[in-house]
Amino acid sequence: MCEDAVTGPVANAEMAAAWDGDEGEGWARHWQRHDRLVSAYHEVLLAAAAVARSERVLDVGCGNGQTTRDAARSAADGRALGVDLSSPMLERARKLARLEGLANVDFEQADAQVHPFAAASYDVVVSRFGVMFFADPVAAFANIGAALPPGGRMVVLAWRDLADNEWLTAIRSALAVGRDLPSPPPGAPGPLGLADADRDRAILHAAGFDEVELTPLDRPLWFGTDADDAFAFAQGSGAVRGLTEGLAEQQRVRALDQLRTTLHEHATDDGVQLGSAAWLITARWRGQRRAAS
Ligand SMILES: C[S@@+](CC[C@H](N)C(=O)[O-])C[C@H]1O[C@@H](n2cnc3c(N)ncnc32)[C@H](O)[C@@H]1O
Repeated sequence: MCEDAVTGPVANAEMAAAWDGDEGEGWARHWQRHDRLVSAYHEVLLAAAAVARSERVLDVGCGNGQTTRDAARSAADGRALGVDLSSPMLERARKLARLEGLANVDFEQADAQVHPFAAASYDVVVSRFGVMFFADPVAAFANIGAALPPGGRMVVLAWRDLADNEWLTAIRSALAVGRDLPSPPPGAPGPLGLADADRDRAILHAAGFDEVELTPLDRPLWFGTDADDAFAFAQGSGAVRGLTEGLAEQQRVRALDQLRTTLHEHATDDGVQLGSAAWLITARWRGQRRAAS
């Protein structure tokens, strides 16, 4: 563990370097695009969280803070705290909260896996795709759970398998240019870190959650108004940069041409849309972490 600009300890130093660096800068710059990209999931998450007027909400991996701010609006007599590793995104979140005149929302730079949250100080934990990146998910969910009272609820979204997520498979095959791209190892910290339902149940059970339920959701992701707009955005994203890294110039041009073609193929009257698949995961904190068996 090391101490840095984050409040408290950091257990996920590599993730912190990425999200507090270029990746986070990009997300903060394109905050409207990122919010619209997953907009088909946003209301589902808020409806499942059903935040009441006087509740205290903890949003884990809040990014640019749309879910935190909307939760704060529901908790008009309560409060919402968003925690994230990324200072550029937190800065964006604070700025938007100020512009929107929200006085009951706070943002803190923290590693949720190890941050010393005050015990039982929140009624509900939410996350929109911010809880798949922990090096030690059992420790992380035990730490997050301890911020809830016994019976407190957690409602989070996480991506399902690679094969179910057209936005990933289509982009990967466009950029493969003859390469056999390795799939991320199952359960590795990253976007697909909670893709396996059985493993998720085991993690949350071991961490100290009960009543774990996973509901599959299939929704389109919105990448841009048209193929050119989507391409300009996708080309600069961390995923595309990562998948084209190390390619010879000619191959890189071919890969990006194929990406442009793929985005054209997914252009609709309502912008460029690719299919996606997620879990809506709900659980209740039982009061303490289970002893290892
Ligand atoms: C895919 S983004 C989602 C951001 C936001 N929830 C949204 O829906 O736009 C994942 C976020 O999780 C954050 N994150 C990853 N690991 C974290 C950790 N250990 N503690 C706190 N935040 C973390 C990242 O910094 C990033 O902002």
